[in-house]
Amino acid sequence: MTYLLAIDCSITGEDSVSRPLVAEFSRAWLDAADGRQVRYRDLAADPVPHLTTAGLHYAPAMRRAHEVVDDAAAARQQELIDEVAGAHAVVIGAPMYNWSIPSTLKAWIDHLHVLGTTVPADGSTGVFHGIPVIVVSPRGLAYDNADPTAAGDYTVPPIEKVLGESMGMKVTSVVVDYTLATRMPPLAEHSGAADASLAAASAELARLASTL
Ligand SMILES: Cc1cc2nc3c(=O)[nH]c(=O)nc-3n(C[C@H](O)[C@H](O)[C@H](O)COP(=O)(O)O)c2cc1C
Repeated sequence: MTYLLAIDCSITGEDSVSRPLVAEFSRAWLDAADGRQVRYRDLAADPVPHLTTAGLHYAPAMRRAHEVVDDAAAARQQELIDEVAGAHAVVIGAPMYNWSIPSTLKAWIDHLHVLGTTVPADGSTGVFHGIPVIVVSPRGLAYDNADPTAAGDYTVPPIEKVLGESMGMKVTSVVVDYTLATRMPPLAEHSGAADASLAAASAELARLASTL
């Protein structure tokens, strides 16, 4: 069965910007062809644990003797890897929290990025290679897309680095700026830009859903 893997991690409840956009994208993708399913993982409601040993970052042949990986942790990691490897595409709600990736999302990514397996040591392509990933990243302020890290965006660039550059997935990022315009009075002047950014993101996600 062809499925989209949809990931949420927002903790902002009914205020969330990423959750409705992920849902919107998922619905549009489902409607674009017959025989499709969405598999859903909510990392805020059901977080995966942090890695407890560096052994989980390396293929068994690359592990040090002291890096003992227990069976349950290995099985959990394999399940997460298989879920991504089997997906037709992945959509990730990745809000900016403290200029960075939400820790729940980071823990999930840490399970996927394994040297010697999902990042083969012999130069071959890994199991995630070529899988499209849509990253939906709302943030309270605005960041310069020409050089995002210079302006403080440590959310989207690291996700693109690990999923795209390192694991070979086809990452497309869609950001929403100034989502705090209605909460923080000093940002009220940006409410027009906020509305425009949200509308542009929604339209881009609809377009992307019809192409995947
Ligand atoms: C814990 C936390 C930390 C945040 N840190 C930042 C930040 O560093 N920079 C920023 O522009 N916005 C920040 N924000 C605002 C969020 O990025 C913004 O509300 C965004 O819309 C969150 O997406 P979500 O509602 O889907 O979770 C933060 C919000 C929370 C809850």
